[in-house]
Parts: sequence; structure tokens; C-alpha cells
Amino acid sequence: MSDPAVDPAKDAAARAAVALVESGMKLGLGTGSTAKVFVDRLAERVHAEGLDLRCAATSKATAEQASGLGLVVLELDDLGWLDLTIDGADEVDPDLNLIKGGGAAHLREKIVATASDRMVVVADPGKVVDRLGAFKLPVEVIPFGWTTTRTRIVRALAELEIEDCPIILREREGRPLITDEGNLILDLALGQIADAQRLARTLSGIAGVVEHGLFLNICSLAIIGCPDGTATELLREDLE
Ligand code: 5RP
Repeated sequence: MSDPAVDPAKDAAARAAVALVESGMKLGLGTGSTAKVFVDRLAERVHAEGLDLRCAATSKATAEQASGLGLVVLELDDLGWLDLTIDGADEVDPDLNLIKGGGAAHLREKIVATASDRMVVVADPGKVVDRLGAFKLPVEVIPFGWTTTRTRIVRALAELEIEDCPIILREREGRPLITDEGNLILDLALGQIADAQRLARTLSGIAGVVEHGLFLNICSLAIIGCPDGTATELLREDLE
């Protein structure tokens, strides 16, 4: 029976994604509330069917959850290449390009996703957008000199003719949020992103920027769960 405390759309996406898992796989586990539901459903299946899986987690929180549920969690370096990564997203566009990092884990999430044969996103319908950018774009920066990094981001955006983009230092409980890698997050209130490729290249070229939350041409399948318990699949065949 489904748990009434679990969002039915997230649960539907998670259940559909769990069906993609096969015994023997090396699996990447995402971060966030939808990925958390996926890990719960995954553990249920592993225990029911005795699947042999080895997992790499994208955050300390997910590693703790998965280990606590009895899943085998190892370092990515111990696993090498992964078969499949399942993760959530903050925005999914029609080409399955994503904004991620709402949970401040996009650095590890991108490393894990791009070390996988396949990245599959699990999300609810509220994440599907025509164009990326309404969700503030997370950019992970090194603490050393972060205000000058922010200034360089402002200048680089101006060169892309992006003006009027508030850049907010992410806080948690009144203090700057520190990521699992010991860095800070700047959230860029872009409103909409006209050219995500160009923006991604520009941000990646700025000293002090560790990683931005644009996931372009990485995700090949998005499973969108619906509140009625059904799930729809959006596929990027060229990435499969
Ligand atoms: C964490 C992420 C999450 O996947 C993203 O924020 C979606 O989270 P949720 O499923 O809670 O909406 O990118 O860094």
C-alpha cells in the first residue's frame, strides 16, 4: 500500500524508474525529495527480489539514506563507470536539458551523471518547462574570493547581454550554505535562458566557478509522475 505522506506524483515517477534497474548494475543515486522516494522504492525492490547492486551517492544525505536502507554504497572511484543514474531535477525542458542544484548537490550530481551510460530524471509535472531559467540557476563557487567571482559572473553575464540578474548567496538557517564539497552556492535569477549552451560555456570559463546547474545533453529519459499514479516518459533517443 502506498504511504499517504509520499507525494503521489514523485512516487509514480520513482516506481517507474525502479523498473529500469537490473541486478548486477552499478547505479548512481541522486539527491532531493524525488530521488529520496526513488531510493526508498529501490530498497524495497532490492530486498524483495535480492537484486545485486552497487551504488554511488551524489550527496552525504543520499549516502546515509541508502546505507541505512541496506543498499551497498561505495565511492564513485571504487565503482568506476556506472550503468545508470537516477536523479531529480528542478527544471526539464523539451530537449531534456535540465536545471539542477536546488538541493545544492549539482557538482557531485553532474560528476556521477556524466560517469554513467545513462541518466534518467524522475520528476513531477511542475518541473516540466518550455524554456529553462525561471528556477534560479545554482552556481557552485569556491569560498576563496567568492565576491570577486560574483563580480566576474556579473561582467560575463553583461557580455551575454544579460542584465538585471540578481545573484543571491544561498543561505541555510541564516548562514551561507556550505556544500558537501565545502563550497558556496550563488543562485542566478535569470528569469529565462535564451542560449543555455553559451551561458554554460561562459560560466564554466570563470575562475572560482566550480560547476553550474545546467545539465545539457546529459539526460536521455525523463519520467514524469502524475498525481493519479501514472507516469509519462520523455525520451531523447540520440542520447540513449
Ligand atoms: C539537488 C537537485 C535535485 O535533484 C533537485 O533540486 C530536485 O529536487 P526535488 O526532487 O526535491 O524537487 O538537483 O541538487
